[in-house]
Amino acid sequence: MTTEHNPLGLPPEKIPRHVAIIMDGNGRWARQRGLPRLAGHRAGTENLRRILEACVEFGIEILTIYAFSTENWYRPPNEVRGLMSILEQVIDRELEELNQQGVQLRHIGRLEGIRPDLQAKIKQAIERTKHNDRLILNVAFNYGGRAEILDACRRILREGLDPDTLDEETFSRYLYTWPLPDPDLIIRTGGEYRLSNFLIWQAAYAEIYSTPTLWPDFDKEELRKAILEYASRERRFGRVLEKV
Ligand code: FPP
Repeated sequence: MTTEHNPLGLPPEKIPRHVAIIMDGNGRWARQRGLPRLAGHRAGTENLRRILEACVEFGIEILTIYAFSTENWYRPPNEVRGLMSILEQVIDRELEELNQQGVQLRHIGRLEGIRPDLQAKIKQAIERTKHNDRLILNVAFNYGGRAEILDACRRILREGLDPDTLDEETFSRYLYTWPLPDPDLIIRTGGEYRLSNFLIWQAAYAEIYSTPTLWPDFDKEELRKAILEYASRERRFGRVLEKV
């Protein structure tokens, strides 16, 4: 993928390869308009389409979105059902277009726990788009960072790995995100400064950007601002950068 002529006017190394988004604020967006919370999630889904296009335009390679957390099961049953049916509708109605746009769909999280027919649709969508390489859309659905680490530990123990050879690189191979690189930039809309159990291992050296803008209002211009802010930061990865 080329970022040489990206419209942000930044050198390629200043563009985050992997952006992850905590899409917060749908409920408040709806409440401000006197609408039910699900209307906010629908507006948030519409917004996703715009942000996907902007990501391609800006030369971002991977977009991970936090669509449904392991904690979201505790929301009112109609909201949970609504979020499930949004995912189903996105697959039913948008998959062909996403496929034509060259989007590769991936999933992170626990598939078990999701309705079996929806699980099957997710698997089919992944299979159908697996050769696309314009943008990877990685959907965190029934995802929790602690659950991910526990699942990795369970597999490592079951496989009987030698504890003395286990290092960070090997551990990463057991995470849902493997073989994707860690996120460079994590954006949180809706004004909070929390990771909320999102990519907690992978976020170790990510730049965090929080904005009060509610997710349905987070447009291309807002994404541009986030990337410019990212580009202005000095990433040190725990080291000291020599200054001359
Ligand atoms: C947080 O806002 C948002 C969510 C829990 C769901 C995000 C889901 C979407 C945007 C739909 C896209 C999903 C798929 C599957 C493609 P909130 O409800 O916590 O907002 P609030 O803090 O204002 O109440």
